[in-house]
Amino acid sequence: MSDSRCCDNQRVTDAPTTALPSTHPLADGRTAGSALVRALRGDRPETLPVWFMRQAGRSLPEYRDLRVGTAMLDACLDPAMSSEITLQPVRRHGVDAGIFFSDIVVPIKLAGVDVEIVPGRGPVLGSPVRTAADVDALPELDPTALAPIHEGVARTVAELGSTPLIGFAGAPFTLAAYLVEGGPSKDHIRARTLMHAEPETWSRLLSWAADVSGQFLRAQVVAGASAAQLFDSWVGSLSRRDYLDHVAPHSVRALSHVADLGVPRIHFGVGSGEVLADMTTLGDQAPGPRVEAVGVDWRLPLDTAVERVGHDVTVQGNIDPAMLAAPWGVLEQHVRDVVRRGGAARAHVVNLGHGVPPETDPDVLTRVVQLVHSLGSGAAA
Ligand code: CP3
Repeated sequence: MSDSRCCDNQRVTDAPTTALPSTHPLADGRTAGSALVRALRGDRPETLPVWFMRQAGRSLPEYRDLRVGTAMLDACLDPAMSSEITLQPVRRHGVDAGIFFSDIVVPIKLAGVDVEIVPGRGPVLGSPVRTAADVDALPELDPTALAPIHEGVARTVAELGSTPLIGFAGAPFTLAAYLVEGGPSKDHIRARTLMHAEPETWSRLLSWAADVSGQFLRAQVVAGASAAQLFDSWVGSLSRRDYLDHVAPHSVRALSHVADLGVPRIHFGVGSGEVLADMTTLGDQAPGPRVEAVGVDWRLPLDTAVERVGHDVTVQGNIDPAMLAAPWGVLEQHVRDVVRRGGAARAHVVNLGHGVPPETDPDVLTRVVQLVHSLGSGAAA
């Protein structure tokens, strides 16, 4: 990326900029006062905002009905379908945000990479990207290819009114893990070997992934998303040193694509305890967070997370997805504990510690939303 947006490592304390179109929900007032946006910006609204990662998808019968006969990535690129699927959990559960129905590999598909999502398995590449020549051959993403994303988001925000839409993208490391391995893997060994065996090739691969993901994220925000989440799902397989040296600068690059838009940014990883503070500062030596919110998985109690990330950032999380199938009394106590510990943060967006398991009873999710909404601002007494 050659323009001024690249690598502008904007800090949270910088004045929000207004490069958004005046008709954008965040600019025209529709979502600026929503519980989600207020909490992401550090406020404690009267009611705690709650949404669920992977709320749009397989736990809903109406989703499964709609998807019959349509491949996952085709569904993502059909604006009427992506919009309807995004809206389904908002209608059903009364969550405080929609998350755009898509996938982290959509932008690489739109760039022309041969990738499919195999049901029950995940993204699978036609041929893995493992050599310098493979990286050289990666195609640029033509911005016009993002038209179905623009249209899907625009249709969705027209329906959502004052409920904000969250746009998202995969972080460069998580995308690269799929590209190098050629599909899902356990420890991402090949990817981590390439990082050290050929650091220059690795760096070019992650820069490519950062720009493709960044363009995808920017398209969603410009078209109407009021917040942006970067998913670094597999960051937990990295040492802290590797994260700082070989990954964080590229995550900065991905997020820099939305830095001039003034939307709150959420940075989430699984197994991220070792690098949680670094995911907040993005490895920058100067004090102060570089994102408005950090997502915490279920392993780390939120009050411990706050000790690691400080009080200038909002925390998001961290109901254990495994608890969704436990008896209601057990789940209820857990949700109350999550909210109590979240009271240690400047602000808290309630969510799961990772995505909704496909076999989850949707009524349980609705009940969790009602419970969270009954608990007030969640501020520590
Ligand atoms: O959160 C939402 O509700 C929005 C939609 C969303 C999907 N994928 C839809 C999807 C989001 C935000 C994602 C992000 C994503 N995709 C991540 C990061 C988040 C995370 O869970 O860690 C990752 C790692 C992927 C890659 C991916 N895509 C995986 C691992 C899978 C699951 C494979 C399987 O079938 O078990 C997918 C497919 C996918 N993405 C589905 C959905 C609803 C299932 C496809 C189906 O319904 O057949």
